Amino acid sequence: MQIVLLGTAAGGGFPQWNCWCLSCRTARAQPHRAVPRTQSSAAVSTDGERWFLLNASPDVRSQLLCLPGNGATGVRHAPVEGLVITDAELDHTLGIVLLREARALQLYLTPAVQSILERDSRLLPVTRSFADLTITSLALGGRTPLRYWGGEMSGIWVEPLAVPAGPPRFASTAAEGHTVGLMIGDERTGGLCAFIPGSGGLDSTLLGRMEDADLVLFDGTFWSDDELIALGISDRSAHQMDHLPVSGPEGSLPQLSRLTRPRKVYTHINNTNPILLEDSPERGSVERAGLSVGLDGMSFTL
Ligand code: MLT
Ligand code: MN
Ligand code: ZN
Repeated sequence: MQIVLLGTAAGGGFPQWNCWCLSCRTARAQPHRAVPRTQSSAAVSTDGERWFLLNASPDVRSQLLCLPGNGATGVRHAPVEGLVITDAELDHTLGIVLLREARALQLYLTPAVQSILERDSRLLPVTRSFADLTITSLALGGRTPLRYWGGEMSGIWVEPLAVPAGPPRFASTAAEGHTVGLMIGDERTGGLCAFIPGSGGLDSTLLGRMEDADLVLFDGTFWSDDELIALGISDRSAHQMDHLPVSGPEGSLPQLSRLTRPRKVYTHINNTNPILLEDSPERGSVERAGLSVGLDGMSFTL
């Protein structure tokens, strides 16, 4: 299967419209030193023509223009066979409603994520007034095959993984499964990806699952726990926002660097994170530890 990183920035994108932190200023003035990025999303395909989106970002329109194999056979053609959603955060779901021109959309999500999208953000009822929605529930601990529109199997399966995190701030439920990672497998090649764009921590179960993967795409939102507090733009720490910081003795960097099998790439990177600066010491630390900083358009064949 092919996995393409469509967007590697956290909510707000990079640079963020109202941010003049060092990395956002650099991304505007010297984009070769801090490459702009769109909001967190990826796509997976086994044939390079028919794609499943992993989350649907507010930048979905420009992101779909970058997908290979958009070959149309009629006046209307959807290059997207389905959407797999890990949580109900706005940066991962506003794209659902932006795809309303599709006559029909297939969604794969947990019952908890569905409930928040039905009742709290109401993105599903709004989208339903434009397009038919077919929803397949994902169960924690179970594999679900992804099917093309006609019902044919794509050869890709997904399994949601419980991750430590709270629900979105507007959610009226904290039911299990409101925020998940995904194991994504290719039945034919055996290729395996752990896709975890948002997680407040790492435990031995999650690390064990990641060690089996060929590719790990992990939450790179913040470099340090007090990143936004130190900049004076928030009073909430990374942990309070349910994002495990990259640095520090318990950070994701030392923990992920111990995984020997998979290739490891950060995604969902907040605009304030200094790893976005190509020549920063923090970027150097990530690369010396054997990890990569995700960039829109990166593609992996597993
Ligand atoms: C998050 O990743 O914590 C959320 O997407 C925050 C937000 O609403 O932008
Ligand atoms: Mn987010
Ligand atoms: Zn910024």
